[in-house]
Amino acid sequence: MKRKIEQLKREKNAIVLAHYYAPAEVQAIADYVGDSFYLAKVAKQCDADIIVFCGVRFMGESAKILNPDKKVLMPDLTADCPMAHMVTDGVIEEIRARYEDVAVVCYINSTAELKCQSDVCVTSSNAVKIVKALPNKTVFFIPDRNLGSFVAQKVPEKQIILNDGCCPIHAAVTREQVLSEKEKHPHAKVLAHPECEAEVLSLADVIGSTAEILAFAKASDEQEFIVCTEDGVDYALNANNPDKRFYYPNPHPCCADMKLNTLAAVLSVLQNEDNEIVVDEATRRRALIPLEKMLELAK
Ligand code: 13P
Ligand code: SF4
Repeated sequence: MKRKIEQLKREKNAIVLAHYYAPAEVQAIADYVGDSFYLAKVAKQCDADIIVFCGVRFMGESAKILNPDKKVLMPDLTADCPMAHMVTDGVIEEIRARYEDVAVVCYINSTAELKCQSDVCVTSSNAVKIVKALPNKTVFFIPDRNLGSFVAQKVPEKQIILNDGCCPIHAAVTREQVLSEKEKHPHAKVLAHPECEAEVLSLADVIGSTAEILAFAKASDEQEFIVCTEDGVDYALNANNPDKRFYYPNPHPCCADMKLNTLAAVLSVLQNEDNEIVVDEATRRRALIPLEKMLELAK
């Protein structure tokens, strides 16, 4: 399968982008592997004819919105992020009506339609920087309440209104699970994604996006880490740090949607060029505004 994928990539001028949560064998054949911010930037700049996006739907949609002339394919079109739907237009309208000077800050883990209702997008690696940079004193942070409250802690000078959405995978990690790993590995540093609940984040030595977790583990002199994020990161963590040890809460956080990106599905989509991401032009143009603003403010 790997040989066929490589051949088709060459023949069709296609590239494969994979998130760190994609299955290990898919990360291994990808041209670019990264967090959602890095992958959005790669998708915008790339000049391949076909982008095969091994992530979840909002990632493929963002690639299409940022680079509409490319054919964006997903190995499995049903790979979706449940959190991406966890706020309604009605709630956003209500907040806009109530707070005159509010900026609607939309985590990139959201549908294209929600991006259309937003002023700026953020990812977990740039949310603090972007919220700080906004002129608005009031922010409605959608859809993730956990990343939102992490940002609120880091930017106390602003009023951050939270929305009641979350990632079911990260929200399932408990304080008890992390404490139990700490008991088994007392010297391990705790690395956590900001989508985890506050009770977990309060135990963390480092809080950051998947790319930030990877960067910290690599630069650190420590040997052992308890990793509070989806266990797909284990592939890159081990590849980059063969002598270090990585442990996960039990059960391991695992995003079933990300795991739909199998090697067989990558091959099939390259062969058939199906599962294309389509965003209607009016939605694309409107959703582009907060995405472009993110890229500008994150510079
Ligand atoms: P990153 O922004 O760290 O890539 O995270 C994306 C995501 O889906 C986390 O659950
Ligand atoms: Fe969405 Fe959570 Fe899966 Fe990330 S890990 S894609 S936030 S469900």
